[in-house]
Amino acid sequence: MLCLLACTRHHSENEKLLNARIDSLQKMIDNAYRPGLGEFMSSIQLHHEKLWFAGKNANWKLAAFEINEIREDLTDINRYCSDRPETHFMPMIIPPLDSLTKYIQQENSSSFKQGYLILTNTCNSCHQATKHEFNVIRVPATSSFPDQDFEPGTPKK
Ligand code: HEC
Repeated sequence: MLCLLACTRHHSENEKLLNARIDSLQKMIDNAYRPGLGEFMSSIQLHHEKLWFAGKNANWKLAAFEINEIREDLTDINRYCSDRPETHFMPMIIPPLDSLTKYIQQENSSSFKQGYLILTNTCNSCHQATKHEFNVIRVPATSSFPDQDFEPGTPKK
C-alpha cells in the first residue's frame, strides 16, 4: 500500500516535469522566427528580376533556376503564411509560371518575353485582389546586381 502511494506520487511528479518541458518547448516554437509574407515577396521580387535578365540573355539554365526559386518561395508561403487570407489567391500564379517554365525548356526567346509579361501582370492582379495595388511590379529596366553576369557560358575575365 505504501509503495503504491509512493509510486503514484513519483509518477505524477514525472508528469508535471514532462508537462513543464512541453510548455517550454511550445513557447520556443511560438517564439521561433518565421519569415512573413512580405519577406517572401521580397525574395520573389529578386528572383522575378533575375529571371528577366536570365531569359533576356538566353541563359536558359539560369532562367530555369530562377523560376524554380520563385516556386520554392510559393511553397514556403503556403507552409508558413497559411494564416494570411491573401494566400487563397495563390493558385492564380501557377498557370503563368507553368507556361513560362515550358518556354524556358523550349529555349524560346519571344515566347519567354510574352510569358514573362503575363506572369508580371498576374503578380499585379493578385496585388489588386488583395488590396496591395500600390505594389506595382514591372519588367525591370536595369539589373540591381552589377556583380552578376547574366550571360550564359563560363565566367569572362
Ligand atoms: C497570392 C497573391 C500574390 C501574388 C500571386 C503575388 N503577390 Fe506580391 N504581395 C502580395 C501581398 C498580399 C503582399 C503584401 C505582403 C505584406 O503584407 O507584407 C505582396 C507584396 C509584394 C511586394 C512588396 C514587398 C515589400 O515588402 O516591399 C513585392 C515586391 C511583391 N509582392 C512582388 C511580387 C511579385 C514579383 C509577384 C509575381 C511573381 C508577386 N508579388 C505575386 C500578394 C501576392
